[in-house]
Amino acid sequence: MAKKIVAGNWKMNTLKEDAEKLASEVVNMAKDEVPSDVTLIMCTPFLHLAKVKSLTGSATNVFVGAQNCYEKANGAYTGEIAAPMLHSYGIDYVILGHSERREYFKESNAVLAAKVDIVLENDMLPIFCCGEVLDEREAGKQNEVVKNQLEESLFHLSADDFTKVVIAYEPVWAIGTGKTATSEQAQEMHAYIRGLVKEKYGEAVAAETSVLYGGSCKPSNAPELFACPDVDGGLIGGASLKSRDFIDIAKSY
Ligand code: PGA
Repeated sequence: MAKKIVAGNWKMNTLKEDAEKLASEVVNMAKDEVPSDVTLIMCTPFLHLAKVKSLTGSATNVFVGAQNCYEKANGAYTGEIAAPMLHSYGIDYVILGHSERREYFKESNAVLAAKVDIVLENDMLPIFCCGEVLDEREAGKQNEVVKNQLEESLFHLSADDFTKVVIAYEPVWAIGTGKTATSEQAQEMHAYIRGLVKEKYGEAVAAETSVLYGGSCKPSNAPELFACPDVDGGLIGGASLKSRDFIDIAKSY
């Protein structure tokens, strides 16, 4: 069975005090309200990671993730953050290949393959984002696009390493737009992704791979999305900035 995961992508939001308040609220509410078989992840800006990690305290199902890292382990790369640094702060997950990184920072599938490798080498788990833009969906090319992203950035991994990867399908046209994929569209793509994993790594690995949906997911639509057989949870942007909404989403299974 794939792990149920609800991950919050805070993006470039929250000042110091906001971050601490939000993280404390999530940890406290999770304790009372979120079943222990649901993994919660807060992916915060780099500056807040250490503090948020310390706030997770003894919670066993609340984890902390970064939103990116550099593809080299160290060196003269002014302004970048390396995977070993994140690991040294006890960070558990790293989002890679978010569509905003692909669009604004021109991250290619090849660069993302290197980032996936260095995150795994440093004992953290990648949350690998894939998804098509609106033009590609309208041209009926979404499967081809997603297949290419997976093949070029993930399918070089051994089966053992692949089992550590969380996949997030995020149709770019649904991110921050209020326009959610219908549960049929989500299920169709998630089943397709699981099928590709099965072809490459076999049935057992495919069944264990968590495939999250992302794109305008909120408490009102999460129950329907999470009820789809191949949707194992969500990567939540806007709604993860409100503790109540984030926790309500996590209770939607
Ligand atoms: P959204 O963002 O929930 O605000 O649409 C999702 C994401 O970008 O991960």
